[in-house]
Order: sequence, then structure tokens, then C-alpha cells
Amino acid sequence: MSAPLPDVGPVAANTVPWWMGGSLAVGANGLEVAGQSVAELAAEVDGPLYLYDGARVRVQIAEVRAALTPFRETRICYAMKANRFGPLLDLMRREGVDIDACSPREVAVARGAGFVAAQISVTASSLSEADLRAFAASGPHVNFDHAPTLRRYAQLVPRGTRVGLRIDPGVHVGYGVNSRTDYGDSRLGLSPADAGAALAAAQDAGLVVDTLHMHLGWGIRGKDEVHFRRALGVLADLAPRVPDLRCINVGGGLGGRLRPGDDPLRAERWAAAIGEVFGHGGPVIACELGTHLVAAAGILVAQVTATWTKNGERWAGLNVGQAANVYAAHYGLELEFVVIDRPLAMATERVSIGGNINESGDVFTRQRLLPPLAEGDRVAILPAGAYGSSMASDHCLRGGFIERLLP
Ligand SMILES: Cc1ncc(COP(=O)(O)O)c(C=O)c1O
Repeated sequence: MSAPLPDVGPVAANTVPWWMGGSLAVGANGLEVAGQSVAELAAEVDGPLYLYDGARVRVQIAEVRAALTPFRETRICYAMKANRFGPLLDLMRREGVDIDACSPREVAVARGAGFVAAQISVTASSLSEADLRAFAASGPHVNFDHAPTLRRYAQLVPRGTRVGLRIDPGVHVGYGVNSRTDYGDSRLGLSPADAGAALAAAQDAGLVVDTLHMHLGWGIRGKDEVHFRRALGVLADLAPRVPDLRCINVGGGLGGRLRPGDDPLRAERWAAAIGEVFGHGGPVIACELGTHLVAAAGILVAQVTATWTKNGERWAGLNVGQAANVYAAHYGLELEFVVIDRPLAMATERVSIGGNINESGDVFTRQRLLPPLAEGDRVAILPAGAYGSSMASDHCLRGGFIERLLP
């Protein structure tokens, strides 16, 4: 079950909630996304609805692009594991954003969405022979985190094929709730001490290492800047040992905001840190952002199916659960709830919210202060643009939902 959110106290009817602005506003008909009434959009479909605001995604891309302007050459990739809804991938391609993929099927979906191999970067783990053959056949650039896998790949591709090394700088950032959000010292990535051996293995096998890559984890906060710089420093220390180095890939991890008071590392501070460590005229600076580009652009609209009280605890049940959104159950991070026809209503009642899956752990939130909920109320769960639909399962055959991208 997810950790309870810190109590922010009763929310008065006239205070501006933290989620307002950007995609979300309040109009005559309640909550609006991209200027459209969520109630009206939800009435057009039967069942749960993911709504994404395309304009907000473009604003996020523009913000990252602006932050990276001082650099000689940059590459913005979209971590499609965050959300692979076809119209969103189209939007990314039209905006000139490349793809970060983590499996052969993601590569295939990206190719189907019109990305060519040169626009796809792969960072994946536990790769099978079949995975390696698929990458060798489709031709994206691959970042590796084991020497043995590098050697196997070398037998499948022409000598001189360019690859990257994924480094785990060992710093701890972000919400750090558990190893699902904080990747420091996790199973992923080479420890810096092993990088030399991996470089030698690549050279022996005839591969050319042209990229040093890292991904620190989820939700890098403003106060994590010092750790981000330290991690960049680890890559900078390794750089002189990589004779063909062309690219530093700083991964994702920007932009997680889940609750009042959250202070994610801002894109301009992030870019400034990169510039201070690598300069602006050096290697290509690549990133692979998921959360930052799409999370806040999405909401999941659900409906209250029942309310009850058990042992003094007030509950509301929804027509979605962890099959459609596993965020709280998987990451241990609670999302926000907004009643769509009363988005500014006073939060006066403590309520726990459960999903529609037969698992005791299918709980979105426990004892949250919210406006009173009644059967039939529609609620927006947010942010839901990242790691919502893409992580859906069909557990209990309850995985169904509709997705819609608003232009
Ligand atoms: C290797 C890699 N790159 C990028 C990302 C995207 O992370 P985020 O959505 O936090 O930007 C992930 C997420 O798991 C990842 O594993």
C-alpha cells in the first residue's frame, strides 16, 4: 500500500490548488483540461478515460529545448515507457523529439510510429539473445550495462558498431521511497569501477563506445541538484578514458510533481549543471525524459461506484484500479484526486479510495482529506500522463480504458 501523503490540512474553497494552471483550470462546468469541460468529455465515453493535453506536452518540450539552447548539439529523446499512446508518439515525432526505447517491441512500435533507427536510442536490461538479435536487425543505438551482453551483441553486428555504456553513478535522488524510484546502487548500470573493464571488452569485441549514459531515477528534486552534479562529475571523470566519446546521455528523472510543496529540479538549473560540468561546446548532450514531457499533461477520469464505512473508516470505490493505474501500488506514491464537477470544494472528509481489483492492496489513497464523495461522482486522478496507461495490465480482466489526446 502507498505511503500516506503528508497532511496539508483542510483546503479552503478559495485557495488555488497546486494542480491549477498548465493543463487544468476550473470553468462553469467544473474541471477543464486544455480548455474543455472534463465532464462533457467523460460523458462521451463509457468507463475510465485517460485525457492528455497535447498543447501542454509541446510546452514541456519547448521548455527543455530552451534550457538546452546554449549547447552546441543536443538530442531530446522521449522515454516511451512513460506513455506509448500512438497520437502522443506522433506528436513527439512532429516536434522533432527522438525516442528512448527499452525493449524490441518498443523499438517496433516506434518504427511503426514513423521513427527511423537513427532516431531511436535503446537502454534496456536483462537482454536475451532474441532481444539482441532484434536490436541488431533494427539498428538503433544501444546503451549496455554489462560486459557479457556487450560481447554477445558484438557477434551480431558489424565491427565498428557504435554503442554506449550505462553508468550508475551511485547517487540517490528523487522521492527515494524505494528502489523503484531511486536507481542509485540498483541492479541497473555499471558501477564506475567496472567501466574500464566494459570499455576494454567493447574494444576487444570491435565495438566503438561513443556514449556515456546515466539515469538516476524518478523525480529529481530541486534539492537533489548537488547529487545530479556529482553524478555528472562521475561521467566527466570517465570521459577521458573513452577515446570515441561523442555523447553524454543524462537520462530522465526531471519533473515529478505529486503534491503541494513538491519542488522538482527546474530544467534551466538541470541544463546549467550539465553546462558547468561538460561545457557547451563539447559532446552532444542527450536526455531521455518521460515524466517531464507527459506526466502533468494527463489525467485519468474515474467514477465512484460505491461508498461505505468499515471499522469507522470511510471508503469510496472506483471503476478503475491498479490494472488501469498501478502508480500507488507499484511506486508507493499517491496521486491527487479532484472531483470534476466540484474541483474547488472544501476538503472536509477523510476518505480512503480503493480500486476495482480483488487485491487488498488495490488502494489509491488512505485517509485523505477530500470533499465528500458520493456514488456517481467523477474524479480526476492526476498527474496521470506518465506510467499510467503504459503500465496497465488486464488483471481481473479490468484493464479497459479509453485514451484521448486533445490537440
Ligand atoms: C533508462 C531510463 N531512461 C529514462 C527514463 C525516463 O524517466 P522519467 O520518466 O523519470 O523521465 C527511465 C524511466 O524508468 C529509464 O529507465
